[in-house]
Amino acid sequence: MEELNISKEIKIHNKDMIVSSTDKQGNIIYVNDIFCEVAGYKREELIGQPHNIVRHCDMPKVIFYFLWQSILKGEIVYAFVKNRAKNGDFYWVKAYVKPIVKNGEIVQFTSYRKPVNNFAKKYIDDLYKVLVDYEKTHSVEDTFKFLVKYIEDRGLNYQQFIDRLSLGKSVDLSNIIDTVKYKNAHIIYKYHIIDAVKNGNTQVKVTTCKECEFGKMCEELEGEPFTLMPQWKSMLKHHEHVHASLGEYVSLAHNKADSMLLQDKLDIVLSDTEMIFDNLIEVIDSYKG
Ligand SMILES: Cc1cc2nc3c(=O)[nH]c(=O)nc-3n(C[C@H](O)[C@H](O)[C@H](O)COP(=O)(O)O)c2cc1C
Repeated sequence: MEELNISKEIKIHNKDMIVSSTDKQGNIIYVNDIFCEVAGYKREELIGQPHNIVRHCDMPKVIFYFLWQSILKGEIVYAFVKNRAKNGDFYWVKAYVKPIVKNGEIVQFTSYRKPVNNFAKKYIDDLYKVLVDYEKTHSVEDTFKFLVKYIEDRGLNYQQFIDRLSLGKSVDLSNIIDTVKYKNAHIIYKYHIIDAVKNGNTQVKVTTCKECEFGKMCEELEGEPFTLMPQWKSMLKHHEHVHASLGEYVSLAHNKADSMLLQDKLDIVLSDTEMIFDNLIEVIDSYKG
């Protein structure tokens, strides 16, 4: 009879911290009680064993390659890891692994693990499947290059990638920025202002580019690598211009300027709006690779 795959996910509580230490070769020298509880082993079954005792077959080799490369250089490293408990069930952790240095020499490694949010779990689960598949036909070094490019293509470095997922945030630029939604919001906003003016309300408040939702999002993203692109900077200028031009339109209407002048301002708003989203799509496309 075919064996059913009935492995279940072991839930880890937010307050839990799973800790273990290894010697320089990766043999376990310390585990805390939560480690034993979650992995389902007695302490004496773990001490002295290689840490791959909890390795899950769904984990790509490249993650451990990167982990060991980093810690042997004396660096700390974060990684999302799926582990296998003694009974075959699995649990996801965000691991922080650090070398312990004494008299300038690495003497052991310690890992502290916390649970992973559902968004990151789903994202990483899918990504790891791709990596495991890639590893079937590529060396671990090539898989590492593939992973680095994958993350760079999203305009992030490894730490930003881990940080965003840890906060449950998207790591895909086209998901971070819903261009259609923001473009429509600006068009609707323009008509809202035109209608207000048509109805004689020239006191209508025009928001600045920093007050609008799109502007706030752009500000939050400031510092991400893709914000250094010239198209991103051009996009910000056009956005600023859209809001300023709408403000001028309202003040011209207030001063009862002729309709040609008013229409001119609205044409500028329209072409700037197009430019904002053309620039933005260029930024997004360049990160899709
Ligand atoms: C401090 C420390 C903690 C580790 N924790 C885990 C872990 O929780 N799960 C795991 O699969 N590997 C962990 N590893 C990595 C293992 O040593 C090993 O590289 C990995 O399981 C892959 O094993 P393999 O190369 O024999 O397939 C840890 C390594 C260190 C130094």
